[in-house]
Amino acid sequence: MKVLNLVKNDDPEAPSSARLELVEKDIPEPGPGQVLIRMEAASCNPSDLYYMRGEYGVPPDYGFAAGLEGAGIVVKAGRGLIGWRLRGKRVACVRTRGGDGVWAEYFLTDAKSCLPINKAIPAEQAATFLVNPITALGLLERARALGSSGVIQNAAASQVGRMVIRLAKTMTMPVISVVRREEQKELLLGIGAAHVLVTSAPSYEEELRNLAKELKIQVLLDAVAGTETARTLMCMPNRSTAIVYGVLSRQADDPYGGSYPAGNMIFAGARVEGYWLVTDMARLGALGILKRSRKLQKMFAAGELKTAIQSRSSLEDYPAAIDHYAQNMSAGKAILVFDDG
Ligand SMILES: NC(=O)c1ccc[n+]([C@@H]2O[C@H](COP(=O)([O-])OP(=O)(O)OC[C@H]3O[C@@H](n4cnc5c(N)ncnc54)[C@H](OP(=O)(O)O)[C@@H]3O)[C@@H](O)[C@H]2O)c1
Repeated sequence: MKVLNLVKNDDPEAPSSARLELVEKDIPEPGPGQVLIRMEAASCNPSDLYYMRGEYGVPPDYGFAAGLEGAGIVVKAGRGLIGWRLRGKRVACVRTRGGDGVWAEYFLTDAKSCLPINKAIPAEQAATFLVNPITALGLLERARALGSSGVIQNAAASQVGRMVIRLAKTMTMPVISVVRREEQKELLLGIGAAHVLVTSAPSYEEELRNLAKELKIQVLLDAVAGTETARTLMCMPNRSTAIVYGVLSRQADDPYGGSYPAGNMIFAGARVEGYWLVTDMARLGALGILKRSRKLQKMFAAGELKTAIQSRSSLEDYPAAIDHYAQNMSAGKAILVFDDG
């Protein structure tokens, strides 16, 4: 099988394509409890870009296929009932540590980590199902559990951000979406966002303060971090919480990835907490994940929720497509597609 292996490159400026190598490997055999998936499509997320640079929460497995999430058909199963029942089905799958990822023609994984996908959902959408949609709903559920009427979210033109806008409507939660460029504001208004603010506008902080107070919003969904966490919390009502789930602002001169508003935390009860899908899924357990996935798959199948896609490429062309995605993330995901059969 053909595989896009992760290779070590110590140049911090090197593009993602310089960290990948197309190689041939033997197709693995599933052991007990495992399944072999013939990959149909895979996607690239910001976490893949960080992982390839060695800047993600887990150390990179060099010499193994990269790629965090994708979808395909289960073509073989080792001993065990779960895998046996998945044979012939389309599943969404994610890479686990210490083995090949999903940027490969075949992917070996534990049967119990696969999520069966409704036939009405195309493979390329299924390939984006496990990470962002489950996260977007998880963030909103956490905001609700914290007692906030709605959310402020930054980097709102991201796929997570667009899903938050759609999902929050079904939960009647108001959303203030924050973006860094004017054209992103137009994009979000076009998909039905009610409130969109641009960080570079001179009146940004005043507008945010007034709107957050009026809508009684006490949760920030923060994918940017850096100085944005403190800046936004300072504009929010007392006892607000920032849920930090990304560090898109990552800069060489910011070794910790963020800052917090110390005075506001002491005197106004502001709080900062983290969110990681892996921890959330472990907390949810299989039944909780299925419950969340049922709602999301219904919306995907009906076309009410979907991932925007900027390109479709073969394994050979995928490294260049990833480099393009890294420079144009709001344009949608770069999808790796495989020949069928
Ligand atoms: N914690 C978790 O478990 C978890 C799970 C899923 C996703 N995430 C995180 O969620 C975030 C969004 O992921 P995604 O796949 O939805 O992203 P995406 O669709 O690839 O889009 C990324 C977005 O971030 C914007 N952006 C990049 N750098 C920025 C900065 N410094 N300031 C403001 N905006 C910036 C981009 O805008 P431009 O076009 O202007 O660059 C783009 O709109 C990422 O940080 C990802 O790591 C976390």
